[in-house]
Amino acid sequence: MKKIIILFIFVMSGSAMLFSSCAPTKEIADKSGAQLWGENCNRCHNAPSMDQYSKEQWPIIGSHMKLKAGLTDDEVNKIVSFLKGS
Ligand code: HEC
Repeated sequence: MKKIIILFIFVMSGSAMLFSSCAPTKEIADKSGAQLWGENCNRCHNAPSMDQYSKEQWPIIGSHMKLKAGLTDDEVNKIVSFLKGS
């Protein structure tokens, strides 16, 4: 019986750790465009710098790469406004 209780506590603390590590939503929401750009836009190719494309081109590239990178609207908007320099 003791063993079962110990096992139960072990499993519960393990799953508590698992759940807490799956809740970074607030941190993601707090990330800046520069941070998101650095973390996402160099996964498949070198991250393009802001002077490589114009203010008119970035939103188009953003919507294109949003699909490729699996980013949310919010994340892409932040990255695009960072790259537009505003
Ligand atoms: C999942 C992989 C992947 C990620 C992540 C990714 N890209 Fe790309 N990107 C590509 C591929 C593949 C191409 C070339 C083929 C194409 O254009 O479809 C490309 C092309 C580009 C180009 C060339 C012009 C164009 O639109 O084709 C730019 C600029 C670009 N990416 C910017 C970005 C930015 C900014 C991010 C971050 C938001 C990003 N990429 C994230 C895969 C990715």
